Amino acid sequence: MSGSAIPGTTPAPAASAETAPERRAERGAWWRGAAIYQVYLRSFADGNGDGIGDLAGLRARLPYLAELGADAIWLNPWYPSPMADGGYDVADYRDIDPVFGTLAEAEKLIEEAHSLGIRTIIDIVPNHGSVEQEWFVRALAAGPGSPERERFWFRDGRGDLPPNDWRSIFGGPAWTRVPDGQWYLHLFDPGQPDFNWDDPEVAAEFHDVLRFWLARGVDGIRIDSAALIVKDFDSPTGADGDLDGVHEIYRGWRRITDSYEGRILIGEVWLPDQERFARYLRPDEMHTAFNFDFLGRAWDPRELRASIELTLATHVPIGAPPTWVLSNHDVPRPVTRYGRQVTSFSHADRRDGVPSDPVLGERRARAAALLALALPGSAYVYQGEELGLPEVDDIPGELRQDPIWTRSGHTVPGRDGCRVPLPWSGQEPPFGFGTGKPWLPQPASWKDLTAEAQAADPGSMLSLYRQALRIRRAELGDGVLRWLEAGEDVLAFTRESGLTCVVNLGPDPVRLPPHGAVLLASGPLDGDRLPADTAVWLRTG
Ligand code: GLC
Ligand code: CA
Repeated sequence: MSGSAIPGTTPAPAASAETAPERRAERGAWWRGAAIYQVYLRSFADGNGDGIGDLAGLRARLPYLAELGADAIWLNPWYPSPMADGGYDVADYRDIDPVFGTLAEAEKLIEEAHSLGIRTIIDIVPNHGSVEQEWFVRALAAGPGSPERERFWFRDGRGDLPPNDWRSIFGGPAWTRVPDGQWYLHLFDPGQPDFNWDDPEVAAEFHDVLRFWLARGVDGIRIDSAALIVKDFDSPTGADGDLDGVHEIYRGWRRITDSYEGRILIGEVWLPDQERFARYLRPDEMHTAFNFDFLGRAWDPRELRASIELTLATHVPIGAPPTWVLSNHDVPRPVTRYGRQVTSFSHADRRDGVPSDPVLGERRARAAALLALALPGSAYVYQGEELGLPEVDDIPGELRQDPIWTRSGHTVPGRDGCRVPLPWSGQEPPFGFGTGKPWLPQPASWKDLTAEAQAADPGSMLSLYRQALRIRRAELGDGVLRWLEAGEDVLAFTRESGLTCVVNLGPDPVRLPPHGAVLLASGPLDGDRLPADTAVWLRTG
């Protein structure tokens, strides 16, 4: 492949252009091509000096997000919570945790974001609540056989053994025993008891919660662990998720969402089987779902091309827009991930401890950003991705808060390394995050990665994201792509506007198409050649 040319603009077969008829009305809808910025509130910006990010901090930084080019923000759970799992253990679905602020502040945030053209997406957790949630407290008190226990999965054990052998996704058994001898199910932490969706009260409660937030102006709902909520106790695989009953539940959610204008449902659906995945995106179910297949692929031309083709083949026939995700609060940061020489990556297999080359990782993460942001559909940017933050791997054990760390017997570090508070400005911690000591320590080396330092540097990751999002808003987003013939180490495609994206994933430079003007490049070009691990956006049309 050395020095091979990319022969101009010979079109390969198009990915298809037809939109399913039921979906025609959605054409041009904001969410089909949105760039959505994920806010991990606890680590975004601290407004009151207690070292924990909050709504005041976020509201003060909304102009940063407007300047970055975010069309929407998605906030991880902000509800009252004992924080057994970073707030994914919800104690009250209709309020805000005091550490983050108040309901009135949340309403102000939604309004202020709207005035800057930014929509707000919140996170709803239907699979489980919290041990401090009123329903669970009442179920414990009411005892075995009570209707209160029917809202959860309480069962008798097998002697001293749990009711069955289901395992928690965070490690250890999925059952915890209560003082009267019964056990309750928790697919995650014991602090997160699973709801029983066979009980009609559970469905009714969540319908009401949806209305509560939609009436307050939220534009979208991210549905946590969406495929897991229905269980079959009598089947050994009955907790593996994706049981057929889930779809009727989300149809009900869709009817509610559709009764407000322009609101959407986004599924967190981790399913390797694309045919099963696509069922969640039927026209009367969710609007979109995160693309974890793309996120899980190694920096390899065959892997990434296969993922893009699979994604398009899954979404195009049903007319749902694909999504492109490079990171979130559950996975190692891209700069670190792509700096590792590994073939693939999955939710369960984090590759922690595998050495990573930071220079290579950054190069690839920059190129990956231009790839992901040029693809048709909506795109997610997880806070700090736009700053090129690496995974922090030296957090002292006693400061780690992810339950994965404790439940794995301190063998799996967990997800704290991608949740470290953002560096905003200055030369030393807390880097403008707030005035107090941040809840997780920030590396001293982040002085070069602050938003302030990067805003002043046209070659920074932040500048790259700002420019890419600006161009994207003007001419990318929803639509189709046309592959261009290129070498096997190169991904090249053109979008409707005539913008061509070329990514070199091979070891050697390749020649660029002759008639393109460079709009944006992830790294320096070598004359008319695109170096290894570099991406470029060209104007060819
Ligand atoms: C989702 C969330 C993750 C959380 C889990 C349990 O996967 O993204 O952070 O731990 O659900 O709620
Ligand atoms: Ca705070």
